[in-house]
Amino acid sequence: MCPPGSRGVPKASRALLLLPLLVWLLGTPRGVGAGASQRAELRVRVRLPEGQVTEESLQADSDNDSIILELRKPDGTLVSFIADFRKYVKIFRALILGELEKGQSQFQALCFVTRLHHNEIIPSEAMAKLRQKNPRAVRQPEEVRGLEHLHMDIAVNFSQGGLLSPHLRNVCAEAVDAIYTRQEDVWFWLQQGVDSSMFKALPKDTEQALLPHCGQVEDLGKPCVCHYGLNLAWYPCMLKYCHSHDRPVPYKCGIRSCQKSYNFNFYVPQRQLCLWDEDP
Ligand SMILES: *[C@@H]1O[C@H](CO)[C@@H](O)[C@H](O)[C@H]1NC(C)=O
Ligand SMILES: *[C@@H]1O[C@H](CO)[C@@H](O)[C@H](O)[C@H]1NC(C)=O
Repeated sequence: MCPPGSRGVPKASRALLLLPLLVWLLGTPRGVGAGASQRAELRVRVRLPEGQVTEESLQADSDNDSIILELRKPDGTLVSFIADFRKYVKIFRALILGELEKGQSQFQALCFVTRLHHNEIIPSEAMAKLRQKNPRAVRQPEEVRGLEHLHMDIAVNFSQGGLLSPHLRNVCAEAVDAIYTRQEDVWFWLQQGVDSSMFKALPKDTEQALLPHCGQVEDLGKPCVCHYGLNLAWYPCMLKYCHSHDRPVPYKCGIRSCQKSYNFNFYVPQRQLCLWDEDP
C-alpha cells in the first residue's frame, strides 16, 4: 500500500521504483558485508523545459557520498551537477560550446559552487539503488520547483578549491578563472572549518548594480554583469515512504522526482567572457 500522496503519479514515474523495495521488505542489511561500496549509474530519458528529449546520467557513489548528474542540451552545452554530501557542497558546471564561425573559442566553462542543504536531493546510498523498469520512457518530473536566482559575489581559487570539495579539482579544471560562489555560502563553510584564503570577493554588489548587464554592453573589453541559466530537468528529490500492516514503521518505497531551474548572475571583467548573454 502506498501513501495517499502517490495517487495520481504518472505511470512512467511509477515504473521507476527503488529496486531494493524487495530487499527492504526482506529487511536485508544494505550492501554485502560492512562498508561495502556502491557505485551506480542510471540513464534516464528526460524532457527539457524547451521541449526536446535528452538523455540524463545520474551517478551515485556511496564511498564518496556524492551524486553526479549530467545532461547535454540540444545546443551542445554539457551541464553537470555534483552533490557532495560530505562537504555540504553542490557544484554546477556548464561547458558552453563557442561559435567557431564567430571566432569564439571551442568552449567556455563556468562553475558555480553553493551550499548543499539537507533534502535537496535523495541520499547517495538511495540513489545508488535506483533502477528503472522502462529505460525508454521519457520521465516527467512530478514537481517543478521554483526558479532560484543566485547572485554570485565571490571567486574561488581553483588550486585551493580541492579543500572545499575534492570534486572541484576534476569538475572545474576547465573553469579555473570562472569558479563562483556566494558570501552566505562561504560563511557557512567557514564554520565547517574551511580555509578562508581560497575565497576572494568580486567587485561589490553596489558597484555591480551600477554595472550594466552584459546584454547591454557592446564593447567586448568592458566589465559587466553576466547571466547564466541552467535547469536540472529531472532528479529524485525525495524518498517516498509507504505503510504496511505488517511493519511497525513506514518504509522507503519509491522516489519523488523534481525539476529545478537556476539563474546565476556574476561579475565578468570583460564582456567577451559572456557572449551568450544577449538582451531580450
Ligand atoms: C590561488 O592560490 C595559490 C596558492 O595559494 C596562489 O599561488 C595563487 O596566486 C592564487 N591565485 C589567485 C588568482 O589568487
Ligand atoms: C571520489 O571522488 C573523487 C573526486 O571526484 C574521485 O577522484 C574518486 O575516484 C572518487 N572515489 C571513489 C571511491 O570513487
